[in-house]
Amino acid sequence: MNMAEDAGVAHSPIVSVVEHYDDLSQRAAEAVAAVLGRKPDAVVTLPTGDTPVGMYQELVRRIQAGELDFGRAQFFCLDDYLGATPEDEASLTRWLRAEFLIPGNLPENHIHYIPTVADNPALAAAGYDRQIEDLGGFDLAVVGLGPNGHIGFNEPGSLPTDSTRVVELEAATRNQSAAYWDGKADIPTQAMTIGLGTILKARQIVLIVSGKNKAEIVRATLEDPATADVPGSWLVQAGERLHVILDQDAASLLSTR
Ligand code: PGA
Repeated sequence: MNMAEDAGVAHSPIVSVVEHYDDLSQRAAEAVAAVLGRKPDAVVTLPTGDTPVGMYQELVRRIQAGELDFGRAQFFCLDDYLGATPEDEASLTRWLRAEFLIPGNLPENHIHYIPTVADNPALAAAGYDRQIEDLGGFDLAVVGLGPNGHIGFNEPGSLPTDSTRVVELEAATRNQSAAYWDGKADIPTQAMTIGLGTILKARQIVLIVSGKNKAEIVRATLEDPATADVPGSWLVQAGERLHVILDQDAASLLSTR
């Protein structure tokens, strides 16, 4: 069964629950392709992590089959460790280049790298937000949800007004990150992330979450009052601009299921 339920009411986020991870990947890729179809020069940010792997595979398949073209889009990297260059083994930008930017043939001059190696990171982060604004703001922000409720590297304590900035990483996030490289990489204590305030201005936000281990944080994100303790919960204020795509495991603790 490839069932999908859409339970959107006016001014509430649209929540789609699909059966399996593969369905989630297809749905997420469709959401990206729909925005690009309407607006080929869309300004977008897309996430790193385990969750979007299938989405990237499908996007790359479509691009290589000539069904989708990212050639005019403007791509902004969501987050990376402070001081990490795309050559560093444990760089999210390096991962993103390998999984999507290179196989997806994104033109280098349309890729905006988050300025993690700037001499003055605070100034450079503000400049990054200005670049996004100068291009008209995000048409689409696809994000994942961390086990601690983080969005990008907007860790607990983050506010819906936060701009792009340098942040301290929680131990839980550093352990999660180290696991991507089998514990072999030394994960920095600081990172730079596009802020929730910048993400919340996006014309469309897609939140993708998979797996039973995320079920409780998904429930808290969508059903409890918004709080800095669960940064993802601020996204709910985007109302129908937010499309949440969950597999059944991730949705299993929602009260409406
Ligand atoms: P994951 O990470 O997709 O690897 O679970 C999500 C996140 O921490 O944002």
